[in-house]
Amino acid sequence: MAENDSARRGGTVPAGVDIERSSVARLYDWLLGGSHNFASDRELGRRLVRAEPNARQIVRENRDFLGRSVRYLLDQGIRQFLDLGSGIPTQENVHQIVQKVAPGARVVYVDNDPSAVAHSRHILAGNPDAAAVHADMRHSGEVMGHPTTRGLLDFSRPIGLLMVTVLHFVPDADEPHAMVARYRDAVVPGSYLAISHATHEAAPRAAADVEQLYRSTARASAHTRSHEEISGFFAGFELVEPGLVYIPLWHPEGDPHPNPEQMWFYAGVGRLDQRSRPVSRT
Ligand SMILES: C[S@@+](CC[C@H](N)C(=O)[O-])C[C@H]1O[C@@H](n2cnc3c(N)ncnc32)[C@H](O)[C@@H]1O
Repeated sequence: MAENDSARRGGTVPAGVDIERSSVARLYDWLLGGSHNFASDRELGRRLVRAEPNARQIVRENRDFLGRSVRYLLDQGIRQFLDLGSGIPTQENVHQIVQKVAPGARVVYVDNDPSAVAHSRHILAGNPDAAAVHADMRHSGEVMGHPTTRGLLDFSRPIGLLMVTVLHFVPDADEPHAMVARYRDAVVPGSYLAISHATHEAAPRAAADVEQLYRSTARASAHTRSHEEISGFFAGFELVEPGLVYIPLWHPEGDPHPNPEQMWFYAGVGRLDQRSRPVSRT
């Protein structure tokens, strides 16, 4: 409570944030070694590390994949990015990677966590080519129709869709595959989709423990999925080499982790091309 009071007095708590309950965004920030988190997040983080001692390394692997996939998309000529479930800005944020290589390239961050959006807006102040939208990615029409999104992204040109470490927070009941298909159908051929997603296949017990822990977070529960289910998110996209693989194995920039399955996330990047676009039933 003392932290709550002092944080509010110091004006560091954005409206709508309940710091007594942990949030996915702030927990991830803590795991990455960031400082935008509160006691509730750190407590959950410590429990999570007890359940999965590799947790901190897993989130770093995810963050590294985000960077590698963005650099890959830049190499393919992508100059605009829609980063869904973008999180609390830490080092090597998408707009920093992108704008270093391609000044003028555009980035829209989307998150449903008010802390994440407030921190993003803070660091993006004065940047005309990047902005943060406070929205739930499940509401794809709201996200893509948002004036900020429309103001920065040109949907008649290829877009890099980033769904990194976020789809496992969308339960099956919310039809995540249909949701991804709505984003796919809104972008033109030549666009790309990058995904990393937790799986239970390599470490079923740890995955079950972590899912249980997430049920106590403020905004989300976590849903690990199989290789087949995660591959299904790429319907209509052509997976680029090496396909959907354990995260350290996707375009490693050094020696990958010797036991990639211990990082129990799959990662992949797909390219939308005209011939592979299915008829949408959503
Ligand atoms: C684990 S963080 C990942 C951050 C970043 N993508 C990365 O890989 O470094 C997941 C983020 O997704 C956000 N999130 C979860 N469900 C969401 C939803 N339905 N819509 C928008 N954001 C969501 C959380 O608030 C959190 O900031």
